[in-house]
Amino acid sequence: MPPVPLDISPLIDPALFDMPPRTLWLSHCKDGPITRASGDVVRSLLQSELQPWALRWQEDFLDVQQRLRSLGAALLNVAVDDMSLATCTSSGLEAVALGFPWNAGDDVVIPAGEFPSNRLPWLALARRGVHCSEVPLWDGQLATPRQPPRPGIAPEQRLLDAITARTRVMAVSWVRFQDGLRLDLEALGHGCRQRGVHLVVDGIQGAGTMVPVLDHVSAFATGGHKGLLGMQGQGLLWTEPGFRQQLMPLGTWLSGPAVFSQSGRQEEHASHWSSDGRYLEAGSPSIVSCAALAESIKVLLAVGGPPRLQSHIGQLQRLLLETLASHEAWSDDATRLLGLLEARRMGPTLCFDLPADKANALLEAGLAQGIDASTREGFLRTAWHGWHGSDDVQRCAAWLTGSAA
Ligand SMILES: Cc1ncc(COP(=O)(O)O)c(C=O)c1O
Repeated sequence: MPPVPLDISPLIDPALFDMPPRTLWLSHCKDGPITRASGDVVRSLLQSELQPWALRWQEDFLDVQQRLRSLGAALLNVAVDDMSLATCTSSGLEAVALGFPWNAGDDVVIPAGEFPSNRLPWLALARRGVHCSEVPLWDGQLATPRQPPRPGIAPEQRLLDAITARTRVMAVSWVRFQDGLRLDLEALGHGCRQRGVHLVVDGIQGAGTMVPVLDHVSAFATGGHKGLLGMQGQGLLWTEPGFRQQLMPLGTWLSGPAVFSQSGRQEEHASHWSSDGRYLEAGSPSIVSCAALAESIKVLLAVGGPPRLQSHIGQLQRLLLETLASHEAWSDDATRLLGLLEARRMGPTLCFDLPADKANALLEAGLAQGIDASTREGFLRTAWHGWHGSDDVQRCAAWLTGSAA
């Protein structure tokens, strides 16, 4: 690997956010900041809520939705007709879980330790006689004390090996929320397709920062409020067209196959539902949230989209880990994470494996310095994005090693 540059400028201008210089926000894995442009568009649309006579049906309602579908499609590198507006990750996954044509006795495979958004919708299917198998991704994942993921693990193979003749769907987090591990969607999707199984993805911890390969994936659901820099309560769902047609339609008045007529009657058509992504959209979305997410996605695309962001973030992560590797107390874990990074197994969040008391003490020390990170299941999470640069890495390293001024 070529040496990582020591001086890395932010890819996204930090001035596009309302972020005070003292704040180092390493928590988009919890909640991403919206851009100032998103704030402006929300304020302007709120004005039309105060004065509905000023609201333009096409420009301020239908076009806002279509713009978000188009920008979402550009970001994921998929066809716009396959995008649906969804409230959040959970609602996208529920559209799939509840709408899939199950038979009693079918099986779903998910990794052990999933976030509840990608666990409970599948466990709920027990009422329809569908079993959910939860598969550990590496030795020691569920041990006490638990082992973190290390270079050399093969989580995709573990999942594929758990498929049986009864498996219809596999559902995974692309990037795991607690340890930051990124699964290889291309390899997993390919293996699933070969076995006649649909791969469904909870994409929220990687969307906006990492490049998704959806060639063999059937559905990809994400909330918009983390790496996509939108507001809570607005997300996106992508579905492969053949798979979508197998699902129960959720669409109602805005998802007719032809333009809805405001007289309250839909045009006659062979099908009640549009065949595009609106097939899975129920009723009026939150227009302010759609507009905010669209503006933020524009910012991500303007700097080169996920390919540029992923490589920028990878450089920052390498700089941080190489700096930490020379400190005795951090060297083992930094080396573990460097190995995962080199194996292309890291999402945007570096999750350090620390004793709980040390992680909590660091969190508190960070807050006192204006640095906001988070902990989950004993991992200290630092999430990297396009507005970070090498100065932020140095600040983070000084905080972690206790050498901050
Ligand atoms: C892996 C994962 N999935 C889903 C969510 C959130 O789900 P939703 O968008 O439904 O609120 C989170 C939030 O932390 C998450 O980490």
